[in-house]
Amino acid sequence: MSHPRCDQTVAWQALAGHLQAHGRELDLRSLFADDPDRVRRLTIAAPEMVADLSRAHWDVATREHLLGLARECGIEARRDAMLAGEPINGTEGRAVLHTALRAPKGQGPHSELVHDVLDRMLAYVDAVRAEGRFTDVVNIGIGGSDLGPQMAVPALEAFADPALRYHFVSNVDGQDLASVLPKLKPETTLFIIASKTFTTQETMANAQAARQWFVDVGGTDIATHFVATTTNVAAAAQFGVTTTFGFWDWVGGRYSMWSAIGLPVALALGSTHFRAFLAGAHAMDQHFATAPLAANLPIQLGLLDVWYRNFKGYTSRCISPYHNGLRRLPAYLQQLVMESNGKCVDADGHPVPYATSEVVWGEPGTNGQHAFYQMLHQGTDVIPVEFILVKRPSFRQPAAMSPALRDLFAEQHRMLLANGLAQAQALMWGKTTAEAAGEQAPTASKDLAPEVIARHRTFPGNRPSLTLLLDEVTPRSLGALIALHEHRTFVSGALWGINSFDQWGVELGKAMCKELLPRLSSGDVSGLDAATAAMIRQLRA
Ligand code: F6P
Repeated sequence: MSHPRCDQTVAWQALAGHLQAHGRELDLRSLFADDPDRVRRLTIAAPEMVADLSRAHWDVATREHLLGLARECGIEARRDAMLAGEPINGTEGRAVLHTALRAPKGQGPHSELVHDVLDRMLAYVDAVRAEGRFTDVVNIGIGGSDLGPQMAVPALEAFADPALRYHFVSNVDGQDLASVLPKLKPETTLFIIASKTFTTQETMANAQAARQWFVDVGGTDIATHFVATTTNVAAAAQFGVTTTFGFWDWVGGRYSMWSAIGLPVALALGSTHFRAFLAGAHAMDQHFATAPLAANLPIQLGLLDVWYRNFKGYTSRCISPYHNGLRRLPAYLQQLVMESNGKCVDADGHPVPYATSEVVWGEPGTNGQHAFYQMLHQGTDVIPVEFILVKRPSFRQPAAMSPALRDLFAEQHRMLLANGLAQAQALMWGKTTAEAAGEQAPTASKDLAPEVIARHRTFPGNRPSLTLLLDEVTPRSLGALIALHEHRTFVSGALWGINSFDQWGVELGKAMCKELLPRLSSGDVSGLDAATAAMIRQLRA
């Protein structure tokens, strides 16, 4: 099935014309003034959340043209092909079926395989939790074998087993593992070696070092204390791991948290909550598969991403979760979006003449406000911000909770929400120089005229944002939130006509590292470029 590339569609030309005619001047303040119904019309309900897209830089005509783009590019057929298990990852000759991992038993492709491993893994999880032999779980993995669990475990802290401590070791820098080891006792530690390929340099190095430490400090029974999650069961066995939970090549690394790679999450949550996590993602899959384009949240967000990147020229977006548990979400989304869509050729290998992946970055609110929000409000770049607001707090409360302390925490949650609301408001409204001039300015240099100071205190406003509103961060809502981002990433990648499911861009550096590693010991710099050779000499001096 062939679909036109986005830039060869009628809708793309229409969007370019629309940008020339109106798009450059889109001003949120007038859009709101002109349309009292804007919030209702641009609010989309999806499983476990409501999205307010009214503060995005678009209007009715933009959305119509974008829907035309989605239709011309065959987004529904492409989506259906992915969900049906067609081999859409052409460069690796693979299907893309992370959705099958969260489909209920008996539904979706590979159901028997998926549920065999899931049932076995969750039986193991419940047994480990019931037994209470472990105090510490150490996940050793990197990229997709680390970022998901490292994000989800703190996000779901309120649901996690408090008897267990969780550690995530990813970096090949020995500092990472070494800082965890003093907290561990071999007899109460479970190491999970998480690697789709079981060949990744960082993970293998940390796994070997962990096993060495275990033996050095008198640990016995490696079989009980080391488990593996991988598609390469044979390599895990060779390493000496006998308890292995497998998955399959049709699960991409950055889409693998739903597979055995989710073992740390499952250990933290127990089987019931882990199944709820999968169910939340499945609910979003169904929304993506069936909701009409205009009310389909992943599709609307993917279209917005293309509009922003290719027409408005925005180069990044800022993820701002007003929920401290979601502090690793920006890092998780960085891999999801940038490893998926950071490509410069289309699926047929032709260079694409338009921009692809935006940069994704962020910090939880309110911390970001005291770091980079200055630039978001007054910098020269426009950076769309994505707020995540959560109605009810969810964190493990201190054992001794007096009514006074409860009230203080309740007030802190209101402060958190008020900050998130205020930032979205300030970005949109800004402050004119006249308004700033009318304010009582704080002490400033006597050498600066009041109008100069007022200009420094002016906010341009009209800075776009969107808000995802959740009732609570629960296993189910987190599952839905992550699936939303997966599908949104698929949508923009499909519109750009790229393969969002390979990652050749990480290979070159890996190969060069292999070549350089022995040179650091031998000092042989023959054949190297002058800069690398000079650096090796200095490192060895
Ligand atoms: O960095 C590239 C990458 O291949 C990611 O796509 C993947 O998530 C990560 O390395 C880890 O790979 P593995 O799970 O095979 O160790």
